Amino acid sequence: MIKKKSVEEVLEIAKVEEVVQDFVQLKRRGANLIGLCPFHGEKTPSFNVSPSKGIYKCFGCGKAGDSVNFVMEHENLTFPEAVRYLAKKYGVTLEETELSQEARAEQQYLDSLYIVNQYALDFYQDQLFNTDIGKSVGLNYFRERGFREEAIRKFGLGFAPDKPDAFALKATHIGHNPDLLKKVGLMSQYGRDFFRNRVMFPIHNLSGKVIGFGGRILVKDVKAPKYINTPETEIYTKSKVLYGAYFAKRAIRQEDECILVEGYTDVISLHQAGLENVVASSGTSLTAGQIQLIRRNTENIKILYDGDMAGIKAALRGMGMVLEQGLNVRIVVLPEGEDPDSYLKQVGVEAFKTYITQEAKDLVMFQAGMLQEEASGDPIRKANLIKEIVDSIAKIPDPIKRSLYIRECARIMDVEEQLLVNEANKLVAQHFRKQQQEKERDQLRQFEAEQEAIPVQPARPVLKPKEDALSSGDSFQEKDIVRIIVAGGASLFDPEEKLTVAQYLISNIEDVLDEFDNKLYLRIVRDTRERLLSGQVADTSYFINHSDRDIRETAIGMVASPYEYSENWEKRWEIFLTTQKMPDENFVRDSTQALKRFKLRKFDKKIRQNAEKIKTLFEQKSDDYLLYLKLDQKLKAVRNQLAEELGTVVL
Ligand code: CTP
Ligand code: MN
Repeated sequence: MIKKKSVEEVLEIAKVEEVVQDFVQLKRRGANLIGLCPFHGEKTPSFNVSPSKGIYKCFGCGKAGDSVNFVMEHENLTFPEAVRYLAKKYGVTLEETELSQEARAEQQYLDSLYIVNQYALDFYQDQLFNTDIGKSVGLNYFRERGFREEAIRKFGLGFAPDKPDAFALKATHIGHNPDLLKKVGLMSQYGRDFFRNRVMFPIHNLSGKVIGFGGRILVKDVKAPKYINTPETEIYTKSKVLYGAYFAKRAIRQEDECILVEGYTDVISLHQAGLENVVASSGTSLTAGQIQLIRRNTENIKILYDGDMAGIKAALRGMGMVLEQGLNVRIVVLPEGEDPDSYLKQVGVEAFKTYITQEAKDLVMFQAGMLQEEASGDPIRKANLIKEIVDSIAKIPDPIKRSLYIRECARIMDVEEQLLVNEANKLVAQHFRKQQQEKERDQLRQFEAEQEAIPVQPARPVLKPKEDALSSGDSFQEKDIVRIIVAGGASLFDPEEKLTVAQYLISNIEDVLDEFDNKLYLRIVRDTRERLLSGQVADTSYFINHSDRDIRETAIGMVASPYEYSENWEKRWEIFLTTQKMPDENFVRDSTQALKRFKLRKFDKKIRQNAEKIKTLFEQKSDDYLLYLKLDQKLKAVRNQLAEELGTVVL
């Protein structure tokens, strides 16, 4: 283990601003530096580096830490790897403590698995280049496919001979432990080779160590699978690996794009044609782990699908996850029957590049177009497909992107934009609420865990929800007003006068704006007021996509609704739902009531303040108190009138 002292020395010398500067362009702002966050997509910088504190923090995605953390996160390294990386770069000599017996044994064990795999790679490569059968069968096969020697060597391709145990015998003969050969999946229980008579594709992890293999059959045999792959082992988990990632890492970052293909051969073909930012999902649909891997280096994925529709449809189903991660996904469908490797060979590099640039379609648009075609003339299917698209759109975290998508999709599918907006807003709200709940649960869990860990400490106060509407003074009534403005402010209060609900409410509370208890709600009201004054519409969509994050999140929380369909939806598509209907959203009635409740509270407050005044003046023996006594009566008259209208008890 690296000694604490050495870690501190590294942190001392590897200044966070310098380390970050290697990857992120920073500009000075006051005592700090700012730039575009490398961990999430953004157009305006919220990534902060504080040289004096030695830390970075992104105010957009929340990632924060010191220089070592930065390298860990950015380069996908473990803590010791990151410390070693920085030590090397800044010339720090690390002192290491003795590992515990167990830790060292574990480390050595894992190392030995990598060593065995590397040995296997060397063995298969030796077979390929230096044996007659390897040359005539394996090398010939690769050459016929157009793989040049340089690429073959770079990717460590090889040949497994058609013998029951050629590899196992050789490996054990030179002293490799048979148990380890089994552990990495290269040898069976009975001492037989796992890969026989196949060309070999080694699979590397991100630091370039060999963790497994794929072996391709050479004959067209319907009974045997085209590829067999290393089974799951302690160092190989298929779902977390992207083939070629080690060789593509640098180019992906440079190009700020990752090209995703299906097959091993596609990666190699494209790579040797100069397209190096390529990885393969190895025939499976993308997993969360794989997406994470890509996301560390870029936000832009271009997926090249083999030209068969069934496959594409299956693949699209897993794409929600990608959108949730805020990635920009573009899809290129290759001509029927082609895969990237074959198509590249057919048309040449330049035409290939042009094709994948010109044919790239945005994922959501692609989906919209495809479904549109499928459902044309079938209104029920169309309603379903809109829901599907809206589902996808709602997953996109960036509100600006969302509204662009909505506009575009409405156009493609020939529906009213507002319809999509409404549906998307509801889903966004649901999603947001779910996230909030999860966050709260996490906090609680963490809190409980901490409690368990330190039982002697006095109990901390129970977690309180964030300063909320309900927690102070008249916030509840204020929230009600804001909720109505957000959810129904754009609807008409009086059709004849073209007065909107928001206009009605805001004009009615203008006199008491100074008495708002909740600053955030006040901000929303003021913002709405200004917007209305400038002649613009302030509808739900405006709030939900607001540039001010607090406003946005409050709005989302307010329109969160467990109802999936709106009445509008039903009317439009003539699909009558058996599920519960939307509650009657009568914003006109709601707003009158809310306003009265709001005013009632404000009058109560004024009455209280007035009473104080009377008391003070009376004590000061000033006759002025009589004036205030009169005011008291007036205030009470109005208050009681309001209370009566509301049907509440006058206290
Ligand atoms: N695959 C697999 N097992 C199979 C078939 C495919 O693991 N039986 C994985 C491999 O990673 C393969 C990828 O799915 O690379 C894509 O499959 P396919 O398109 O059939 O293979 P290609 O890589 O295109 O190989 P080739 O060009 O030689 O047909
Ligand atoms: Mn293929």
